[in-house]
Amino acid sequence: QLDEFEFNNVQIDQHGPLAVLTITRPKALNALSADTFSEIAQAVNLIVEDAEVGALIITGSGDKAFVAGADISELASLDGVYDGRELSLAGQDVMHQISSLPIPVVAAINGFALGGGLELALACDVRVASTGARLGMPEVSLGLIPGFGGTQRLARLVGAGRALDLMLTARQIKADEALAMGLVNYVADDALQKAREVAEAMVKHAPIALSLIKEAVRRGLDTTLEGGLEIEADLFGMTVATKDFREGVDAFLNKRRAEFQGE
Ligand code: CAA
Repeated sequence: QLDEFEFNNVQIDQHGPLAVLTITRPKALNALSADTFSEIAQAVNLIVEDAEVGALIITGSGDKAFVAGADISELASLDGVYDGRELSLAGQDVMHQISSLPIPVVAAINGFALGGGLELALACDVRVASTGARLGMPEVSLGLIPGFGGTQRLARLVGAGRALDLMLTARQIKADEALAMGLVNYVADDALQKAREVAEAMVKHAPIALSLIKEAVRRGLDTTLEGGLEIEADLFGMTVATKDFREGVDAFLNKRRAEFQGE
């Protein structure tokens, strides 16, 4: 059972096909220390290896923060270009590991999602914010730029103009403004509950198709429209060769619910 693994800074809970990864440093508003990063990476590996898990939800413990960024007390000891670059690359790796998972990943943004916290949410597929959540990229106020993928993923998600405004002003926005700009997909009083509903709606569907949609979008964003359409056709071909496609079509034609096996 996944929830039997013991970590210091994260916790895994499993509810049927849903795994919930909670960052558990509420006293530091769940800030991403090096240890936390390393535990997130280990936990994500365990989750993805578990065949029973169909979707992952990432959230923060306590009622105040999702993640308030990189751990600033650790940033304080960074010294020089090399140190900074290494930290950025290490953080980017973990975000990439999350964004390239073959299962849907939903961020339940239950409070502050700032800097590295917003970058973590951006590495997820879909974002649900609580009504009181605050989102922002405050790095410039520390003399930094976002370093865990934020300059790239934020601009790809909401457009360069909105991303530049958020990063250059360092302003915090409320959930409704984040929703209006497409930075989050849903706003709800209880972000975790809503994230569960969203993830449940996803895990009903064919797992291979879910993972190939993610792959098509991710790879397509890095290429031309023509290149992206080729990727789509290749991956579409792969879905047609699955047992789940046969099952889905048969279920539709016989007016019954499909039972997908991930094959
Ligand atoms: N790192 C380390 N500790 C943090 C932290 C962080 N990012 N954010 C909050 N904390 C700690 C505070 O130091 C405080 O600890 P103590 O109780 O021991 O003093 C505790 O969490 C509670 O925080 P506050 O007292 O500050 O709570 P508040 O309600 O007054 O303010 C806040 C909340 C606006 C989120 C404020 O904590 C804040 O501005 N945090 C920092 C946000 C930030 O700048 N994040 C970006 C980091 S840079 C980054 O992420 C780099 C990157 O992309 C690579």
